[in-house]
Amino acid sequence: MKKELFEKYNKRLPRYTSYPSYPFWSNDVDQSSWLMHLQQVFENHNTNCNVYIHIPYCEKLCFYCGCSRTITRNHRIEEEYLKTLFTHWDWYVQKFPDLKINGLYLGGGTPTFLSPHNMGILLQYFEKNFSEADEFRATIEVDPRVTTFDHLQVFVDHGVKRISLGIQDFSPDVQKKINRIQSFELVQNLVSEARKKGITEINCDLIYGLPDQNLIGVQETVEKVIALSPENISFYSYAHTPSKSKNQKALEKYHLPQNWEKRILFEKGKELFLKNGYLALGLDHFVKEGSSLYHAYKNRTLTRNFMGYDIGSTKVTIGLGASAISNSGLSFIQNPKDVPDYLNATMNPQLMITHSHTLNILEQKINEIIQDIMCYGRSEITSLLKISSQEVGQDILSQLNKLADVGFIKMISGILEVTHQGMPFLRNICEVFDYHMKNNTQKLFSQSV
Ligand SMILES: C[S@@+](CC[C@H](N)C(=O)[O-])C[C@H]1O[C@@H](n2cnc3c(N)ncnc32)[C@H](O)[C@@H]1O
Ligand code: SF4
Repeated sequence: MKKELFEKYNKRLPRYTSYPSYPFWSNDVDQSSWLMHLQQVFENHNTNCNVYIHIPYCEKLCFYCGCSRTITRNHRIEEEYLKTLFTHWDWYVQKFPDLKINGLYLGGGTPTFLSPHNMGILLQYFEKNFSEADEFRATIEVDPRVTTFDHLQVFVDHGVKRISLGIQDFSPDVQKKINRIQSFELVQNLVSEARKKGITEINCDLIYGLPDQNLIGVQETVEKVIALSPENISFYSYAHTPSKSKNQKALEKYHLPQNWEKRILFEKGKELFLKNGYLALGLDHFVKEGSSLYHAYKNRTLTRNFMGYDIGSTKVTIGLGASAISNSGLSFIQNPKDVPDYLNATMNPQLMITHSHTLNILEQKINEIIQDIMCYGRSEITSLLKISSQEVGQDILSQLNKLADVGFIKMISGILEVTHQGMPFLRNICEVFDYHMKNNTQKLFSQSV
């Protein structure tokens, strides 16, 4: 990557895990319109959905963390939380008795905060709604520090074959500064036991831009991760937003790599992943050729959502748990962020939607284009130009011409194709279509490259 291009285009932009991006949601969805949207989508397709379950608890705070979580060592709260999830799910099943779960994703916080016993109860509760085994897939986020072999056994007993490990960095100095100590041996043992028990797909989360991270440390971490031979790797840019996540202020006393210095850390990791047979996917993912994400990429069934890349067999995602986001394909809704408010809302469903947005026709089209660009680096755009006003269409075309001039994209017969040089700038390319960003002056987002 050329430094001048990086410096010119590295600016605060959405991550485009949804369109419109979260800060631009208009809060216009209530219970009855939400149910109407689901009904509409189910009628046109089938009653299959993905379910995202948020387990908000962690025993210890990682100082870099930007996720929605509650720190506690009190495990007595598990039962009440599970009961609440079940009540919430029952509400959906009552409305749509044929609901089938194609994809189940447990994220957090830390799903393996739950004891193996309670994890088993949770998975069993949803099992009756799982779709056929060849269609069904489940992924659980795993913090190696609190995940036991018994957890792994419960996963495979309930058909969970994919896990995502939070690793971040193996350097002892960085681990100390971020308040997250976990040895390579601990992770290696867990991975080898997971393989023995029948887990077929392992993802590793890494972060670049952590305090005092340097090239040698990143190289060592990446080499250790490659030795674990995971099917997928997410190599995230550290998002430093202390106004939102106050815990991140604790990192400001250290040197936080930024701009070009931070980018170089990513480039080092990327070089090693590619050299070792991984293929780059989107902005920050690396996949093995045999992985299901790679197949989804090849078969054009890849999607991008709040959890990252996924296999998109259905449009609908139902989010259960505090702060979880649901997507009907026509609208987004978010559950209350705080656990007590979420528990209360299952008793009074009118309080369940705290943040929401209905997509108009133009936003639905832009959403499709952004999904295509983020997943495949390619999208047909003439149908958008047909439904947008002449003025908006002209503006989009003139911005695309500028990106074509710097060599980020090619336009061939109404198809936008991102070039090799343009791949790191996917967020900048998506911005061209994002009319909500036109008058935005607030610092709402992290750096784009
Ligand atoms: C919910 S956590 C994963 C599960 C478990 N809690 C753990 O940490 O092992 C999801 C992932 O988000 C990423 N993450 C959290 N805070 C971040 C930040 N500020 N910037 C970039 N990535 C972040 C980490 O890579 C983390 O593994
Ligand atoms: S990174 Fe994971 S374990 Fe650490 S505080 Fe955040 S959610 Fe919890």
